[in-house]
Amino acid sequence: MRVAVVGATGAVGETILRVLEERNLPIEAVSPFASRARSGGARFRGRELDVTAASGDALQGFDVVFFAGGEDAAEELAPALVAGGSVVIDNSATFRMRDDVPLIVPNVNADALRAEHRLLSVANCTAIVLCTALRPIRDVAGLHAVRAATYQAASGAGRAGLDELLAGERALAGDAPEPQPAVFARSLARNVVPQVGAFDDDGWTGEEKKIRDETRKMLDLPELLVSATAVRVPVRTAHSAVVFVESARETNVRELAAAFERAPGIVFHRDGIVTPRDVEGTDTVHVARLREESIDGANGEVRNFTLWCVGDQLRKGAATNAVEILELLLERGYVAA
Ligand SMILES: NC(=O)c1ccc[n+]([C@@H]2O[C@H](COP(=O)([O-])OP(=O)(O)OC[C@H]3O[C@@H](n4cnc5c(N)ncnc54)[C@H](OP(=O)(O)O)[C@@H]3O)[C@@H](O)[C@H]2O)c1
Repeated sequence: MRVAVVGATGAVGETILRVLEERNLPIEAVSPFASRARSGGARFRGRELDVTAASGDALQGFDVVFFAGGEDAAEELAPALVAGGSVVIDNSATFRMRDDVPLIVPNVNADALRAEHRLLSVANCTAIVLCTALRPIRDVAGLHAVRAATYQAASGAGRAGLDELLAGERALAGDAPEPQPAVFARSLARNVVPQVGAFDDDGWTGEEKKIRDETRKMLDLPELLVSATAVRVPVRTAHSAVVFVESARETNVRELAAAFERAPGIVFHRDGIVTPRDVEGTDTVHVARLREESIDGANGEVRNFTLWCVGDQLRKGAATNAVEILELLLERGYVAA
């Protein structure tokens, strides 16, 4: 199998190369692409690889093309590659809400994948973490409403986002003048910024709308009330969320805890806490602090729960999920090894 990675010099693309190495897939050759060519600049299986400038011609003939190169690259190049016979797995938001493009999270909705799908989008990183945590509740008691406050890491805005946080931290530590924020709406160092993406006329940000729309699509609940407030925090990697869930039917913490413990791809913490730094570099979503909300505090059958979830958004929220989609395609025989 011949594989291309577009955006191989970026935060997600570099992680895709790492995950492909770890997973030991039947890969003959991997070719890295970016906005411009450079010698070296990417590594795979211990070898330094030259990076090629992405173009329709240069990307012809690959069995699988991963896109982690921003919205423009996928929009311009992916359709022709699919028409030419490649399978495209795209991390951008470009095609996510198209009816003919599934948003597969293998532990959540593998059933939505069919043989005719040759263009596959990887969902928004926060929505992937959220849906992984919500699936066991949906399966046990249905979902009526989901409200979330997210705590999103700087690398969610790519290399430039991480660099901006680190430069701000260095400046504050050395009492140097702080650089003007360019990626984030305010300086992120020693701060939290309640804006991820641009506001629409009603005050929702682009990130909040992606979380709402993609969560509905992945969970196959088009009417689900999903209300997110996305907040950027000075964490390097891994997105967290406090989630307030209203189930469709009454249930209890004991039943949900058992469902979380059975669920693939989830590490459930009955006690204590788990933080972004604990999960950085892992491929699982962690769920902790599961509580039921009741007016009198008595344990019983209720429909309102609160939980904390956290996952490495570069891996589970992007690169690992993309590679797991490829593994599913191979397993089903939809892509030849
Ligand atoms: N960061 C996350 O946590 C995350 C999570 C989920 C999804 N995503 C999505 O994944 C994609 C990549 O994000 P990122 O965070 O990895 O960004 P990034 O760190 O800024 O990297 C962007 C990569 O794309 C390349 N690129 C930019 N424009 C290109 C073009 N026109 N043609 C080919 N390559 C191009 C860049 O190449 P140069 O080095 O040559 O500029 C670089 O390799 C985005 O669509 C993003 O929304 C990101």
